[in-house]
Amino acid sequence: MAVTESDVQRTFEVFYRVPRVGQIRLSDGGGPFGFDIHLALLVDELIGTLGCDAICETGCFVGDTTYYLAARYPGLPVHSCDVDPRHVAVTRRRLAHHGNATVTCRDSPRLVAEVLGRRTRPLFFLDAHWGAQWPLEQELELLAACAAAGGAVAVVHDFDIGHPRFSYDSYDGRDCGPGLLAALAHPPQVYFAPRPDGPWPLPCLQTGRRAGAAVIAFGLDDTPLRDHPLLDARTVPAPEPTVPVAR
Ligand SMILES: C[S@@+](CC[C@H](N)C(=O)[O-])C[C@H]1O[C@@H](n2cnc3c(N)ncnc32)[C@H](O)[C@@H]1O
Repeated sequence: MAVTESDVQRTFEVFYRVPRVGQIRLSDGGGPFGFDIHLALLVDELIGTLGCDAICETGCFVGDTTYYLAARYPGLPVHSCDVDPRHVAVTRRRLAHHGNATVTCRDSPRLVAEVLGRRTRPLFFLDAHWGAQWPLEQELELLAACAAAGGAVAVVHDFDIGHPRFSYDSYDGRDCGPGLLAALAHPPQVYFAPRPDGPWPLPCLQTGRRAGAAVIAFGLDDTPLRDHPLLDARTVPAPEPTVPVAR
């Protein structure tokens, strides 16, 4: 495994120094990755194991996770965006002293496409939602199409992992879950869910809302993820048959 005890220590030190500014709106009280250090540890495993050369978050809100990522990975470029200029302004101000971070005001699929064009093996934290339009499917389609180029790994936040302790999002009657992956034009065959009872090196101190997450490797050898003790490999289900509309 690429991650060492000192990596875990570093994650711990940076994670719990980030002010939870997102508490002004987020139902989990804010903090990096919804104050779930297991997700920070998982991202560290993915970056180390897969050799990621950049990080891209979609939907920065007021920058709790952006701030953590820029501080934890000073040697990697960190890209983030938001459609709300006020969110971008706050996040930029917080990150003024982190020269590795770039925060832009735009629709997230545009950022995903740009990062895919510029980086070889980026890690994406897909967390853009709340607006009238849910950009996740478009983001995932772009990632699926990149598989032939260099490859990328995505962590989808607020994903239904089928565990009662973990929440997920729904938009217009569609759940952020395996069915959404199945409905993509180029669905992945497999996704990975963090194991709540896995051998995590630190406890998660989030006592409120915890969000499920899915890890998807696009165009990469996912053997290290299949063998990983913190991850559960799951098959993406067949797409729901479409019901013909009566005329
Ligand atoms: C749940 S918050 C993000 C929280 C943040 N990632 C964190 O960890 O603190 C979702 C954000 O996505 C933004 N958003 C919604 N639709 C978007 C889109 N199409 N492109 C970029 N950002 C979007 C919202 O304005 C909001 O700030």
